[in-house]
Amino acid sequence: MRFITLVAGIAAMTVTLFAGAAEPIVIKFSHVVAPNTPKGMGAEKFKALAEQYTEGAVRVEVYPNSSLYKDKEEMEALQLGAVELIAPSLAKFGPLGVREFEAFDLPYIFDSYADLHKVTQGALGRRMFEGLESRGIKGLAYWDNGFKSFSANTPIRVPADLKGRKMRIQSSKVLDAQMRALGALPQVTAFSEVYLALRAGVVEGTENPHSNFYTQRMHETQKHMTLTEHGYLGYAVITTEKFWDSLPGSVRDALERAMREATAYTNRIAKAENDKALAAVEAAGTTEIHVPTSDERRAFKKALLPVHRQMAPRIGSDLIEAIYEETGFDPEKL
Ligand code: LMR
Repeated sequence: MRFITLVAGIAAMTVTLFAGAAEPIVIKFSHVVAPNTPKGMGAEKFKALAEQYTEGAVRVEVYPNSSLYKDKEEMEALQLGAVELIAPSLAKFGPLGVREFEAFDLPYIFDSYADLHKVTQGALGRRMFEGLESRGIKGLAYWDNGFKSFSANTPIRVPADLKGRKMRIQSSKVLDAQMRALGALPQVTAFSEVYLALRAGVVEGTENPHSNFYTQRMHETQKHMTLTEHGYLGYAVITTEKFWDSLPGSVRDALERAMREATAYTNRIAKAENDKALAAVEAAGTTEIHVPTSDERRAFKKALLPVHRQMAPRIGSDLIEAIYEETGFDPEKL
């Protein structure tokens, strides 16, 4: 009898942990990619876990595919409190006035996910999140996507093949410098407009992790892709300090747990999702996929590594050096 009373008491305590508010707290999570990508799947996983762990005290509404805001707008919407969660690519933090994140755009700086994780899951990743605080932004997690390959309508074997080509980039000064180092003409285009821009010939080529390339149907518009894997594209999941601090402690704890688990999930599936997407591009048969020879790879590396030194005054040479140290990257080694 006493045992039953005790169990009932614990159950009541659990119920009351999140009780009190008549209406659930709504978290709008806006992003620009398709639901069947690492970020899209991570957002859905977070929603499921957050609603479960808060026992319905929080409702997460996920808006994929730029259905609520495009890339530039989502950053503004977050700051204005129109959405509570976004996960922009690390290339898109420049407008916030934090240039450190552009280090992730440096060509070839990460050889593998394992090297990348030494930064995103370590002290440097935390230091970069601390840099957001003065802007009222709270970094919650780093989510992986993958390594980018160049695509165009003409074959890409050597850097000179991109000379004079109009190449779509995300809004990042490092990516601008990267394309210019190849003699290409970079054009900043919102992600939601890339497919149409490629189809209309407004831009002639681009760079993407394979999951984004496939789910935006870019294979319908690009005849050639070379698996250069010359740079990384991933995300920081962010909210505002104001929103996060306004949450009851029990809700915040539950959301942190949901975010931890959604992050582990996303980073576990990212590579497989990109491999699956590449296989789907191959199966579609509309894009010829070229695996560069080691000489071709070296030629791209040689053309692009000078971007590190060129961008050091902007990003901070101490940060770049710290990343090299963490990953063992040698900028002299081709
Ligand atoms: C892009 O604009 O290419 C990417 O940032 C889109 C994304 O969120 O993966």
